[in-house]
Amino acid sequence: MSKRLYIYTVGCQMNVLDSELVTAGLVRAGYEVVDSPRKADTILLNTCSVRQHAEDKIYSALGRLKHVKEHHPHKIIGVLGCMAQKDQETIFKRAPHVDLVVGPGQLGQLPDLLGRIAAGAGPQIEVSLDRTAGSRSLVQMSFARFDPERKTSLRPGPHQAMVRVMFGCDKFCTYCVVPSVRGPEQGRPPEEIEEEVRGLAGDGCLEVTLLGQTVNSYKHASGGRTVRLSDLLYRLHDTPGLARIKFVTNFPRHMTDDLLQAVRDLPKCSPYLHIPAQSGSNPVLRRMKRGYTVEEYREMLARIRQTVPGAAVTSDFIVGFCGETEEDFRQTVELVRESRFKNSFIFKYSPRPGTKAAELLPDDVPEEVKRRRNHDLLALQNRISEEDNRLLVGRTMEVLVEGPSKAGRKQASSGPVQLTGRTVCDRIVVFDGPSAMAGRVLPVRIVQASATTLFGEMSPSQTSRSSSARSMGLLR
Ligand code: SAH
Ligand code: SF4
Ligand code: F3S
Repeated sequence: MSKRLYIYTVGCQMNVLDSELVTAGLVRAGYEVVDSPRKADTILLNTCSVRQHAEDKIYSALGRLKHVKEHHPHKIIGVLGCMAQKDQETIFKRAPHVDLVVGPGQLGQLPDLLGRIAAGAGPQIEVSLDRTAGSRSLVQMSFARFDPERKTSLRPGPHQAMVRVMFGCDKFCTYCVVPSVRGPEQGRPPEEIEEEVRGLAGDGCLEVTLLGQTVNSYKHASGGRTVRLSDLLYRLHDTPGLARIKFVTNFPRHMTDDLLQAVRDLPKCSPYLHIPAQSGSNPVLRRMKRGYTVEEYREMLARIRQTVPGAAVTSDFIVGFCGETEEDFRQTVELVRESRFKNSFIFKYSPRPGTKAAELLPDDVPEEVKRRRNHDLLALQNRISEEDNRLLVGRTMEVLVEGPSKAGRKQASSGPVQLTGRTVCDRIVVFDGPSAMAGRVLPVRIVQASATTLFGEMSPSQTSRSSSARSMGLLR
């Protein structure tokens, strides 16, 4: 039976987490993880459908794998995740060398499905019901949850972990494929989340990031009481060993005062809030069906600035959405100019088959106009990010050290190397220090700043303390 696994992941943090869990499940079933498709006999692609570009990447990877399959017919090729749910049987038609198509709600069945293929049962497909295919509970059940077994060695870093608090999305923004590929919104029971976080912290994890498509609408009714995200933060806060809690992604309309007060009052809770605005124009927000006006978004920002001064707010924007005029775009520019987001992700609108926008609204902004708006908005955001980062020069900030940076990994391991870490506001800091500092929270003095990165120095006392601690064998 095939036992060497290669997994390639695109898409959001939810997908990165799914790949980690899938890998853990297959390692438990006897698989070994390898670092290239060449060495593998099971090749899995965990896919994203949010924009055309993400799908194109997968179909071209599948094109390359066609030759691999011709030369090595025993290799199993599987397509997992959001594109599997969206395209279903079409994937076999476009890429007949694919053996396996598995939606995000069926990932728990992977070991069995791979076993069936290896036993000669032929191509396998498992996906969830379409959202209109039955009652809410029936559709919900078809998006099955799967075993959150966590293994330190499989996490992207031993000191940080993502924890899913909810599945799916019920917002149905008109441009977005997520509600149909990830299914109905379902909050996980708080006890299950607490247990997972306790296990992770006990295993050396310092920081957890709670994940949900609209994480701040998290709720779970149990024992006649509804647990909301703010309650969950209180319940997780005192987990022994845990240093930081983050949560993404927030929906503007659910940024309630109880949540902001929890962020203000809980010292381990990161004052970093990702709250995509998508546009600064009311007619565009209405066509996107976002459910708020730009005035309401501004009012929410003012409440954040008042309740959690110094919070780092970040956003996403879509430019060139159906019918977006120069005046609409100018209003988005204005919102970015005055909001001083820590950073923003900016995307060109990409029509998604099956969504309301793709069905009902013409994609009428020319590609070159989308490109120019994307470029201009990004240039403005970068200028703001750099200006605000520069204000931090001279300050000493607490940094959770993730480990050697890309450059640091190439340096000799004896002596200081370039390390990378994050402030509590999710700003990236690089500085030189001993690699044994990974997994510690240290004060670092910021000496230089760019739009995306702060450059720092460890205080001399920290450096000497760490080297004497190391010589005494006190450090891991
Ligand atoms: N649940 C999150 C993120 C969803 S996808 C939220 O509600 O914000 C991440 C980002 O992709 C979105 O914030 C949006 O800016 C972008 N996006 C989603 N669908 C898109 C589309 N069809 N074209 C371009 N960008 C899109
Ligand atoms: Fe998509 Fe809107 Fe749900 Fe975010 S809130 S995942 S943009 S439908
Ligand atoms: Fe993409 Fe699915 Fe995430 S469509 S953005 S991987 S939820």
